[in-house]
Amino acid sequence: MRTLWIEGSPKGEQSLSSAMAAAYLDAAPGVFGTVERLCVWDDDMLRFGRDAAIAKFAPLFGEQVTEAQGQTWQRVLAEIERVRGFDRVVLSSPMWNWHVPHALKAWIDIIVQPLASFTVTADGVHVGTLGEGKPLQLILTRSSAYDGRHPELVDFQRPYLEYVFGMLGYHVAETLIAEPTTRWTPDERAAMRDDAIEMVRRVGASLT
Ligand SMILES: Cc1cc2nc3c(=O)[nH]c(=O)nc-3n(C[C@H](O)[C@H](O)[C@H](O)COP(=O)(O)O)c2cc1C
Repeated sequence: MRTLWIEGSPKGEQSLSSAMAAAYLDAAPGVFGTVERLCVWDDDMLRFGRDAAIAKFAPLFGEQVTEAQGQTWQRVLAEIERVRGFDRVVLSSPMWNWHVPHALKAWIDIIVQPLASFTVTADGVHVGTLGEGKPLQLILTRSSAYDGRHPELVDFQRPYLEYVFGMLGYHVAETLIAEPTTRWTPDERAAMRDDAIEMVRRVGASLT
């Protein structure tokens, strides 16, 4: 059993979403097996820029690519195949400006590719070929309360992530969320953190 942990926060030890993911994974070592941690902020992450954007549509249009574009595309395909090799996925992320941090979006831009990770039916429906029904758990944090108490707050984080990974063919479990994470005293912050960690630990332990 191999689990991929995609870490969306750059804050390392100070990240709540990362601490929640670690607690969730620690709660059921027998379920998750070997865990590989992919922080999307790592310096050696592939940058999906000009070459990749041109190479992405070249085969669909029957166009030639340059050697550099072809090499970049091979790295894109290699990342998709690497992800395909895992049995489970856990993704932790804060909300940034109503959405996900740009480094996480940049990684999603690598792995969502027609032909390689999804296809389109004759009716124009997207069908994922990467997830193969494997379980995927989202663990999210946001400073404000998006739990229905403030219907005026717009959320592009949770629906976006649930949509993208469902579209890729993963079985997306009920999303685990800590919110609102901004509390005004150290005691309140510590209590919120303890509650969030305990919540994910319980869910993780229930998988065994
Ligand atoms: C650049 C930036 C943008 C943010 N934008 C939002 C936002 O739009 N809505 C929100 O509720 N919280 C927002 N936050 C707050 C974080 O989502 C919140 O502090 C979260 O708990 C951080 O999780 P982490 O410790 O795992 O990084 C933002 C934080 C940063 C650094």
